[in-house]
Amino acid sequence: MNKCIAFHSYKGGTGKSTLACNSAILLARKGYRVCLLDLDIYAPSFHLYFSKEPRKWINDFLTSSANIQDVMIDVTDSFNSQQRHTDSIKSNDHVGEKEVEISGKLWVGLSNPQKKEIFKLETADTNTKRQAIRRFIHLRELLMSDFKADYIIVDTSPGIRFWSINSLAIADILLLTLKMSDLDIDGTRIVAEEIYRCFIELGSKAYLVYNMVEGYCVPRQTISNKEEISNISGSTIAQKPRNDIASVTQLLSQQRSDDDDWPSSLSTDLGIEIISFIPCYCDIQFLRKEFLTVLKYKDHPFTFQIEKLIDAL
Ligand SMILES: Nc1ncnc2c1ncn2[C@@H]1O[C@H](COP(=O)(O)OP(=O)(O)OP(=O)(O)O)[C@@H](O)[C@H]1O
Ligand SMILES: [Mg+2]
Repeated sequence: MNKCIAFHSYKGGTGKSTLACNSAILLARKGYRVCLLDLDIYAPSFHLYFSKEPRKWINDFLTSSANIQDVMIDVTDSFNSQQRHTDSIKSNDHVGEKEVEISGKLWVGLSNPQKKEIFKLETADTNTKRQAIRRFIHLRELLMSDFKADYIIVDTSPGIRFWSINSLAIADILLLTLKMSDLDIDGTRIVAEEIYRCFIELGSKAYLVYNMVEGYCVPRQTISNKEEISNISGSTIAQKPRNDIASVTQLLSQQRSDDDDWPSSLSTDLGIEIISFIPCYCDIQFLRKEFLTVLKYKDHPFTFQIEKLIDAL
């Protein structure tokens, strides 16, 4: 059965684009036909990730009669030939190694990053906006019918803005991505109550994805020594030496002891299940192409987390 999955969050910088891209690539690597859409209309990024210029942008599709075939770019072969090239440099014996090649298909649809194009959509009159919403629905239908997409993966703009909400309207599954900060949590409560609930009532499924949680850069510790924790009571992370990972870990443990299981409490309050806890892997932030982690580093724990996430969907 085909599915349309959207990554959204209240606050920016929660990892939506990274997770969307890696999920799409991993699904394509597994042999599925995948369409990845940059519907972060206000601040697109996939044109930078994929370094491609489409014949037509998603903006053209939404506001005019641009053809879907001119919007979607087939990037499967460019990944596979890049991969073969890297393999051949690494070892002549392994030329053509197929391990991390994409065996399915991957297309991307890009949003136009030019200010005037973003502005044009933002300030469009009601009729144009109404037509664009119809085209949004049509976009999904075309990808399912003409491209025979098994999965449509959608990256969205954060927050409660016109195009973020409309991007969610085409999704069957909403992945509400958040970090473990009060701002993210309070924000998620707001969008859940004001927006997601309405989509859930209309039949979409929603899940919480906690991203960049402790457990890798900062090891996760269970509270084994209460006395040790009481010694650091009253301190803040900012007062601690920056490289003192052990004390940050203790502070996190203490924080947990104060409010034992708030990720689950949020989930219970909202009636939205948690689908994933993805640790913060600071090493992937140093990669120049973090959106390709699952392709380049198939044994990285981040790749396993993305596998788990897509298996759970
Ligand atoms: N699990 C993770 N571990 C470490 N770094 C991560 C993880 N997930 C995402 N990041 C990093 O966090 C940063 C923000 O990610 P990303 O751009 O995907 O967020 P976003 O939600 O799309 O942001 P925006 O709302 O601005 O579009 C990037 O540098 C990315 O590499
Ligand atoms: Mg993004």
